[in-house]
This record gives sequence, structure tokens and C-alpha cells, in this order.
Amino acid sequence: MEKYISNIVTPKVSIAPMVDKTHRHFRYFARILTEEALLYTEMVTAQSIIHGDINKILYFREEEGPVALQIATSNPEDAYKAVKLAEEFNYSEINLNCGCPSDRVSGNLMGAALMSSKNLVYEILSAMKEATNKPVTIKHRIGIDGTGILEDTSDKIIMKSYNDLLDFLDTISRAKPDRYTIHARSAILKGLSPKDNREIPPLDYNMVYRLKDEFDYLNIEINGGFKTIEDIKSALTKVDGVMIGRSAYEDCYLLANFFKLYDYSKDKKPISRGEAIKSYIPYIIEELEKGSSVHALVSPLHSLFQGVKGSKKYKQLLSSSNVKKDTIVDILNTVLEDMPENILWR
Ligand SMILES: Cc1cc2nc3c(=O)[nH]c(=O)nc-3n(C[C@H](O)[C@H](O)[C@H](O)COP(=O)(O)O)c2cc1C
Repeated sequence: MEKYISNIVTPKVSIAPMVDKTHRHFRYFARILTEEALLYTEMVTAQSIIHGDINKILYFREEEGPVALQIATSNPEDAYKAVKLAEEFNYSEINLNCGCPSDRVSGNLMGAALMSSKNLVYEILSAMKEATNKPVTIKHRIGIDGTGILEDTSDKIIMKSYNDLLDFLDTISRAKPDRYTIHARSAILKGLSPKDNREIPPLDYNMVYRLKDEFDYLNIEINGGFKTIEDIKSALTKVDGVMIGRSAYEDCYLLANFFKLYDYSKDKKPISRGEAIKSYIPYIIEELEKGSSVHALVSPLHSLFQGVKGSKKYKQLLSSSNVKKDTIVDILNTVLEDMPENILWR
């Protein structure tokens, strides 16, 4: 294993790249809830950066920062070009997707399927490193089962054991990635939907912990299934960081409690749900004027009252049939007046 000790600071917690979820409005609201977490973009293909309207695709507001850009590609030259183009935006790091199991992505040898071609991953990461001085990171699985696809590649398709993972890392570590975010389950590349691929292959945290234990100089963030501050705290005793996926949009108020992972003064309190909504309203007004979609603007708020009294009423108020460009601000003001005070302002 290449002994490269990155000097980047790994945040204790980050919010995973998630297509259709971690768009810039979500990130703006997430940043209201947490100062601490590193936020990721949705996966963006290198091709779309090269051929698309980058000012639209890569634009983000300073207030969201720090934000990491995740790219998907199977081509080192495209990776180089895309990372160069992204240089004019203020992303704090660039991440390579080696974890997405979707047919569309893996059929193009992107995402998790790339794990079957460790030399190609090495080349892509090296190209990314050449294109930028920013940290270059990778998000991958503990293994893949690609039986039946990619018959034409001579590289290994099934990687199931710890040694297979080491073999992969041994090669790609030569490109000196600054962090490895490891989704602690394998990806099954044929026959499972992306959703099933996030649920059916079992989580194996121990494989990730063992890796960090044996190669403590590698900067390792674990991902998969984290839902509570306690679970995150416990993982942080074994690895450098924890990445949160679904919980960030299924129970977004969790983010407001991330500060508990740090040694702040005992008096520090999470931002209240009410304050978070109040801080977000001016953004909604501004973005609606610029033509942003009202539904995209409201979606980050959906789980704000998850699991607490009044959540049903809140969901009804924010239902898509109620929410319109002209009604959203009034609806949010109604929320601020009608929801139980002890939950809204606590
Ligand atoms: C809706 C959705 C979209 C996702 N999109 C991406 C993506 O663009 N890039 C990526 O690397 N992983 C993607 N993932 C996987 C997550 O980043 C994460 O690895 C996975 O959800 C496991 O973490 P969790 O158990 O905390 O949700 C996505 C997951 C979900 C639920």
C-alpha cells in the first residue's frame, strides 16, 4: 500500500452525494442546520461538465460551502478535462464515484463497476490529481459482484474478500487519493436496483475498521446505515469520518445535532426548527425570483419534523398540492404559528 499521508482535514461528518437529493437548495438548507458537515454535490458525469452548461451544472452559492464535487467517468482524459473546468468554481475537493450500482452508470463502466478495473481507477485518479491542487478523493464500496456483466474485460469482476479490497487499494493508492470514503457493503451489479443495492447487500463495518486499523495512514471515512449521533460517535473512534446518506433527507434535523461530535461548550444548542425555517424563507423568496422550482426549494424541508409531535400536520401543510410559488411563504409562516411551540423553538 502506498504510504501517502494526506494533509487534508477530514470533517467528522459529511453528507453523501445523492442524485435528486443533494442539489444546491438542499445544501443551502443543510448548511443552515450544520456548520460542521462537508456537503457533496449530486454525482455529475464528466461528459456533462465537458459538453453541458457548466455555469448551470456547477454553480453553487458561497453560503453552501464547503462543498465537494463528485464526478463519474470511466475515462482519464475526460476526468482531467472535467476537473480543469471545475477549477473556476470554488469546490473544496473533487471526488470520484466508484460506488454507484445503477445499470446506466455501470453499463458505461462508471460508478461501482469501475472497481473491476483498478488500473483504470488509478489512471482516472492520477488525471484528476494532475488537473487540480485541490484534494482528490474517492467513494467506493467494500466489493462488487459483477457476475454476468462486462464479460469483455479481463480484469477481475468479483471482489468479495478483504484481500480483494486490499488488492484494489494497493493499486489505486499509488495515485495518492486524499480520502477513501467506503460504503460498507458490496454492490451487486446485475439484477438489483440501486435502491435494493443500498439495502440487500449486508453492511460490513468491520472490513472498513480493519482496514483503518492496519493502514492507519490512510484517511478513511465510513458510509452506510448511520442514523444517530451515538452511532456516528462510536464509528469515529475507529475511522476518520462518517458519511451520512439517507438519514440526511429522511430525518434532516439530525444535522442540527452534528455539533455534538465536537468539543463545544456545554451551553451550545442546536438551531431550532423554527429558526431554521426563518433563515430559509429569504432564500426561497430570492430563488423563486430567479426562477428556481418551488418543489425543489421545499423538498429539503420535508423531514424537518420527522418523528416529533405535529409531523403529520406539517407534512399536510407542505404537501405538493398545497405548495405553489404564490403560497409557499404563507404556508411556512403558518407552520411558524401553528406548530407546537416546544418543538418549533426548542
Ligand atoms: C437517492 C440516492 C441517490 C444517490 N446518489 C448517489 C450519487 O450520486 N453518488 C454516490 O456516490 N452515491 C449515491 N448514493 C449513495 C449514497 O451516497 C450512500 O452511499 C448510500 O445511500 C449509503 O449511505 P446511507 O446508508 O447513509 O444512505 C445515493 C443514494 C440515494 C439514496
